[in-house]
Amino acid sequence: MDIDLSVRALLDETFNTFDDTLTQHNFKPRLIEIGEVTYVGRGNARVIGLPNVQSEELLQFPNHVLGLALNLDMDDVGVVLLDHSDQLTAGDEVRRTHRLLDIPVGESLIGRVIDPVGRPLDGHGPISAADRRPYEREPASIINRAPVTVPLQTGFKVIDALIPIGRGQRELILGDRQTGKTAIAIDTIINQRNKNVVCIYCAIGQRNTAVAKVIDDLRKYDALEYTAVVVAESDAAPGLQFVAPYAATTLGEYFMDQGQDVLVVYDDLTSHARAYRELSLLLRRPPGREAFPGDIFYLHSRLLERSTHLRDSMGGGSLTALPIAETEAQNLSAYIPTNLISITDGQIYLSPQLFQKGILPAVDVGRSVSRVGGKTQLPAYRAVAGDLRLSYAQFEELEAFSRFSSRLDEETLTTLERGRRVREIFKQSQYQPLSVPQQISILLSMAAGVFDTTGIPLIRSAEQRVQNILVDEFPDVSEAILAGQKFSEEDQRETIQSAREIIQSLNQ
Ligand SMILES: Nc1ncnc2c1ncn2[C@@H]1O[C@H](COP(=O)(O)OP(=O)(O)OP(=O)(O)O)[C@@H](O)[C@H]1O
Ligand SMILES: [Mg+2]
Repeated sequence: MDIDLSVRALLDETFNTFDDTLTQHNFKPRLIEIGEVTYVGRGNARVIGLPNVQSEELLQFPNHVLGLALNLDMDDVGVVLLDHSDQLTAGDEVRRTHRLLDIPVGESLIGRVIDPVGRPLDGHGPISAADRRPYEREPASIINRAPVTVPLQTGFKVIDALIPIGRGQRELILGDRQTGKTAIAIDTIINQRNKNVVCIYCAIGQRNTAVAKVIDDLRKYDALEYTAVVVAESDAAPGLQFVAPYAATTLGEYFMDQGQDVLVVYDDLTSHARAYRELSLLLRRPPGREAFPGDIFYLHSRLLERSTHLRDSMGGGSLTALPIAETEAQNLSAYIPTNLISITDGQIYLSPQLFQKGILPAVDVGRSVSRVGGKTQLPAYRAVAGDLRLSYAQFEELEAFSRFSSRLDEETLTTLERGRRVREIFKQSQYQPLSVPQQISILLSMAAGVFDTTGIPLIRSAEQRVQNILVDEFPDVSEAILAGQKFSEEDQRETIQSAREIIQSLNQ
């Protein structure tokens, strides 16, 4: 009986609250624009009844499906869907949202794996971000940009010594399939540990297994602590793949605006271009070269123009971009690779021939270039690897020619011997980025001819013996090198002496 009474009291109270709310509520007519789906395709839809919709406005379909209004025609709107279209049918309602697509940004995204609209994919619960930002933004104006001055160490000897990258630069990683493109980007992220660089890895159109492996590697090498992962895998709606790199950049810009240094890896922009081609053809936009739409250049340049180094008065942050592009049969002059080469500040070209020969990383030095990074390189590198790039490229050419002749003069033979040793030194396994003092120890020893007497098969073990000379024996010099000071000749001599002693004891 008591229970009945208390239930009745509770009900009365609830009804009273309803009554109060209803009497106090101020009913006003509100205009909601609702359109109707007339056609649903794989990844796109057409909608009528939304005459005021804006370009690139987010539209809400039933079942939480989102879409972007890309084609505004006279009679209807061409919409790109950000989710799969299985549950949509013609006749469904579509509502305007009056906002552009945005993603959550903030510190809480570090260590998370999200899709390009900010939905968590890692099973660690909802994203709690205080702020959201639109996925497209005007790039920083020229006035607010500063020259690139600080190096971004990849941890690879061949890149840091010969094709140096600066913070705020855009360096393309280019090569055929399975040549180690992702490996270079991931090792660069792993090498940013304790270097105050926020990293963002954006996977576009990749197989789920490949993405899972990358996330696993990042976790294994403790790199997820400072990395966010944005994923639109190959079976995601093409619309979602299309917005992925913009979303990753928006997230990066948030950290750059706080004055931090950011590294964004886009893996890869060839798949991005393909997703955009698919969308454009579905939207019946006219195809151009290789069936890509005419604005594909603009698509990538407006993305990569957002990476920059900001002036101190703007916080001094930077956004470095490492876009990846896949070539087919080493064709660098295909449409998308040439576009990207001309947009970026240089490229690292990975050659399948070198990869097959086991020369890893398979960087083709002759075809790789860094247009702004050279000025940022730490002075110690210039002291030990000054003209190495040129002489190494010459060696590669000489080697190709020397195959045809049996008798070679003394000088050519020495150049070839030296070059082979340099190539051996530049080999580096995955997940083993080297610090600056380690690289300098090895490169200096090599330049001084310390390894000239070591047999080529023994070079890698010899290199491991000398790599810690600066850190272990000359910690002050090591600090000075990292601080960007000159590597004095006397210090160089002492380091070489030490290296000689180690190698001599090894040869005996
Ligand atoms: N420096 C290296 N040392 C040893 N193995 C390497 C090295 N770099 C790459 N690999 C191996 O080569 C293979 C291909 O590398 P990766 O997946 O990075 O290539 P990719 O060009 O990104 O391929 P895809 O075209 O499929 O994206 C992997 O098995 C990787 O472990
Ligand atoms: Mg890859």
